[in-house]
Amino acid sequence: MIPVTIKNLVFSYPQGRNNILDNVNMKISGGGISAITGTSGSGKTTLCYCICGIIPHIYSGKISGEVLLFGKPIKDMDLAKIATKIGIVFQEPDTQLFSPTVEDEVAFGPENLCLSRDEIGKRIKSSLNIVGMENKRYEHTSHLSGGEKQLIAIASVLALDPRILILDEVMSGIDKAGRMRIKQAILNLKDSGRSIMLVTHDMDDLDIADSMFELKDGKLLSLAYK
Ligand SMILES: Nc1ncnc2c1ncn2[C@@H]1O[C@H](COP(=O)(O)OP(=O)(O)OP(=O)(O)O)[C@@H](O)[C@H]1O
Ligand SMILES: [Mg+2]
Repeated sequence: MIPVTIKNLVFSYPQGRNNILDNVNMKISGGGISAITGTSGSGKTTLCYCICGIIPHIYSGKISGEVLLFGKPIKDMDLAKIATKIGIVFQEPDTQLFSPTVEDEVAFGPENLCLSRDEIGKRIKSSLNIVGMENKRYEHTSHLSGGEKQLIAIASVLALDPRILILDEVMSGIDKAGRMRIKQAILNLKDSGRSIMLVTHDMDDLDIADSMFELKDGKLLSLAYK
């Protein structure tokens, strides 16, 4: 089953006159890194919202076409269910972490799924391991650098064990060393068999992508395949 299928997706915000997405078609197949570029305001985040169900479940608008998650229309799934299949991490690390320690932060999702202590422990360990942050498990989140906060934001989403991860400008505003670590974490995610959608406006990030797309005037253009 294909993880994500987007068919003839057209979307505009309630007050907006233009279609932000204008007949977008896309497939995210099993494994690999799909990169999406585009100028500021081209609709990258809007597309992410459509793929992870924030549109239409939280933000509404005029929408037609379909987004299917493992073959099922995302509009018919509830957000809690969607979150176990697809995870999303945004740009600002400070707005995404809300627990005092790294361990609490990563445990939050699995605790809400009411998993056993044993399973929660396993998920904390494996999520921190994939992003290379096992040694920060007992650290206060406020003591982490911007790049480390993003790695923990990724780990906390990973703890729900989604098959698909959407990373929306997660390397913006992060220093070079932090960006290198995040890139390595993304490659580890790919090696774990997950599908990653990497949104970026920085061409330097594209070296890790397997396929590349550009959003322009509401259209999704396929740029190149490796
Ligand atoms: N809630 C909203 N209501 C109305 N218009 C919106 C809303 N959110 C975004 N927009 C508009 O939709 C367009 C696409 O915005 P979006 O945030 O998806 O672009 P983006 O490519 O992610 O930009 P950036 O690179 O700056 O993050 C912009 O013109 C923006 O002003
Ligand atoms: Mg954006």
